[in-house]
Amino acid sequence: MAASTKAVQPNVVQPVEAPKPGARASFTRMDQSTRDEWYTIGRATVDIQANVAERMLHMLRSFDDLYVGFRVSQLHHALQTATMARRANASDEVVLAALCHDVGKYVSIANHAAIAAEMLRPYVSDDTYRIVLTHQDFQGRHYFEHFGKSSSLRDKHRSEPWFSLAERFTDEWDQAAFDPSYPVLPLEEFAPLVRQAFARYPMNF
Ligand SMILES: [Fe+2]
Repeated sequence: MAASTKAVQPNVVQPVEAPKPGARASFTRMDQSTRDEWYTIGRATVDIQANVAERMLHMLRSFDDLYVGFRVSQLHHALQTATMARRANASDEVVLAALCHDVGKYVSIANHAAIAAEMLRPYVSDDTYRIVLTHQDFQGRHYFEHFGKSSSLRDKHRSEPWFSLAERFTDEWDQAAFDPSYPVLPLEEFAPLVRQAFARYPMNF
């Protein structure tokens, strides 16, 4: 993605003719590609950006029947975490992180924190990225002992500027968001936030 973004940045030479919507490159090997073809790819990349938010919402909706042994579905857990964050007056970015922090479970439960963090990374601050990336180290306080693992993994992040928010994120919201009787806000309530967050292609990422 980084290579294609360079093709649409304003400080590089523009193509003779602007690529048309729906146009495709014709090369069969990258080492035979042309600058104009990369403009075509760059334009298409920007044009489909709106799909990113819809895919994120689709993944969250699909968690409606993903329980993985928990009492509530992963959709309820995401909504409860985000609802608790919003009701605690967290910033929109932190509410977004609360909603999406486990979305990596769509493809890998073992590596879900890193996957979710990297999906969010171009659209959020570094602090928020780090909170999502490390949230299992913080969650571990509440259950890692049952797996013979250290429950103090969060301590290695103690000097970080985002440490106190990460503690709040996990201790007040994430680890407490497994209550089927908690009145969560519906996913559609958060949809505008998701669409706004992912609306722009991250040109400088
Ligand atoms: Fe979680």
